[in-house]
Amino acid sequence: MIRIRNLHKSLNGQAVLQGIDLEIHDGETLAILGKSGSGKTVLLKHIVGLLKPDRGSIWVDDREVPKLRRSELFRLRRKFGYVFQASALFDSLTVYENLALALRDRGYPETEIEEKIHQILELMGLQGNEEKYPSELSGGMQKRVSVARALITDPKYLLYDEPTAGLDPVTAETINDLMLSLKSRFRVTAVLVTHDLRCALRVADRIALLSGGKIRIVVPAEETLKIKDPELQEFFRSLEFRA
Ligand SMILES: Nc1ncnc2c1ncn2[C@@H]1O[C@H](COP(=O)(O)OP(=O)(O)OP(=O)(O)O)[C@@H](O)[C@H]1O
Ligand SMILES: [Mg+2]
Repeated sequence: MIRIRNLHKSLNGQAVLQGIDLEIHDGETLAILGKSGSGKTVLLKHIVGLLKPDRGSIWVDDREVPKLRRSELFRLRRKFGYVFQASALFDSLTVYENLALALRDRGYPETEIEEKIHQILELMGLQGNEEKYPSELSGGMQKRVSVARALITDPKYLLYDEPTAGLDPVTAETINDLMLSLKSRFRVTAVLVTHDLRCALRVADRIALLSGGKIRIVVPAEETLKIKDPELQEFFRSLEFRA
């Protein structure tokens, strides 16, 4: 379980997170919606200790993330798959090598690494691209490699930062299906940041709205469209307008 209590963070003198309280239960997928610049990515980075809070804290499986020593933090991060908003692949490594890194780090034998990479590339519709470099792939293909890299270690927790942004509807749907199947088959616990309301409603169990540095509302996905909260409705209208 992930527990966030009274999390405050200012960056460049701007109060970005102003008292976030949130729990993500084991096996659930929680979607976080919020305007651009509202602090969604900053919040995800705190969960894996890439940023440290000014006040408040984060617990993952009862370990207090900001208090962990470097070595403990690295061990904790092995439980996570993180699909970064920008693809964050290593430019100087091929697709194969990008995917192999985390598996080698965990001591998988090379034959198993090869097998896992072939499986995941096929699943993502990327077979035959093993030897390409990220710069030789389209933006959508890079995004799919990033998703593959997050999934390949079978993590307990998955953090998805805009996993379908910039993808065509068919490919986006493949990623939605994948997120759903990870949830039902492996009870993966996930946080999904997205501007895609349809994706959130389809994949998430609960939906949270981040605004003004706080979580304004958390609702079961199936009730989201019925909630009479003016801010939530305004936000939905803005999404429809964008779409
Ligand atoms: N490393 C940083 N240094 C300084 N300011 C930062 C840093 N990271 C984020 N910020 C600021 O914090 C605020 C929230 O950024 P964040 O990236 O979390 O937004 P977001 O909700 O993910 O937006 P988007 O939907 O556009 O991705 C922004 O004002 C941003 O400029
Ligand atoms: Mg972001």
